[in-house]
Amino acid sequence: MTRRKLIAGNWKMNGLKADGVALASAVAGKYKALADKKFDMFIAPPFTILGAVADAAKDSGVWVGAQDCSQFEKGAHTGDVSPTMLKDLGCGGVIVGHSERRTDHGETDALVKEKASAALKAGLGVIICIGETLAERDAGKTLDVVGRQVHGSLPAESTAGRVVIAYEPVWAIGTGKTPTTEDVEEVHAFIRGQIAEVLGADMAEKMQILYGGSVKPSNAKELLALADVDGALIGGASLKAEDFWAIAETQM
Ligand code: PGA
Repeated sequence: MTRRKLIAGNWKMNGLKADGVALASAVAGKYKALADKKFDMFIAPPFTILGAVADAAKDSGVWVGAQDCSQFEKGAHTGDVSPTMLKDLGCGGVIVGHSERRTDHGETDALVKEKASAALKAGLGVIICIGETLAERDAGKTLDVVGRQVHGSLPAESTAGRVVIAYEPVWAIGTGKTPTTEDVEEVHAFIRGQIAEVLGADMAEKMQILYGGSVKPSNAKELLALADVDGALIGGASLKAEDFWAIAETQM
C-alpha cells in the first residue's frame, strides 16, 4: 500500500518570534502554492512562538504543533502545557517522547504513552519518537530497545492518520551520522511488525513511520525512498527554509 509521506521539522529550542514567523511563512507559502500536495508537512516550533507560527501557517495546509505536552488536562502543574491548550492555539499535533525529553527530563515509555493518550483525547495528532542509544546499538540491542519502546509508548487507542512513529537513533541526532540504508530498512520493518502486535496488522500497514537523525537535502531522497520509511523528522536542517524545502522537494 502507499502511505503518504510526512516531512516534519522539529525546531527544538531555537527561534525567536520574527525569525520563526519568517521561516514558517516561507515554508508555508511554498507549500500552499503547490497545486498537487503529494506529501504532508509539519513544523514544531518552541512553545513561546507556537501561536504566532500557527497563525503564519494558517490555511497553508502545513500542520503546526508542539514538541511536548503534559499528560494532564489542567490544574496544578506549574510550567506545563496541556494538549487542550495546544489545540486552543491552533495546533494540529504534538511530538512526544523525543530522546532529548527522555534523556533531559527522564521521560519513560509509560509517561510518553500517557502524553500521547492525552493528546489524542484532546484531538491532536501525535508523533511518538523512539530510538536506541549508541551503547545499545553497539551491544546489539537496537531491536530489543525499539520493540520495548513501541509496546511501552504506543497507546492502544492509536490509529493511523492520528499517530505517527518516528524512529530516531539517538546517536544519529545532530551528529551528521546516519545508519546504513540496510539498517534503516531493517529497523523500520521491525517497528511495523511491533506496531502490528499492538494495533493489528491492518493498522500497522497504514501507520506512518518516519526516520529522524541527521536528515539533510543530500541524503533525504535515498532515505525517504526506503520501504517502510514514510517521511522524516528533521531537526537542524528544518531551521533553514532552503534546506527544509530542498528535503520536501525530493517528494514532488
Ligand atoms: P537532526 O535532529 O535532524 O538535527 O539530527 C532530528 C531530531 O532530533 O528530531
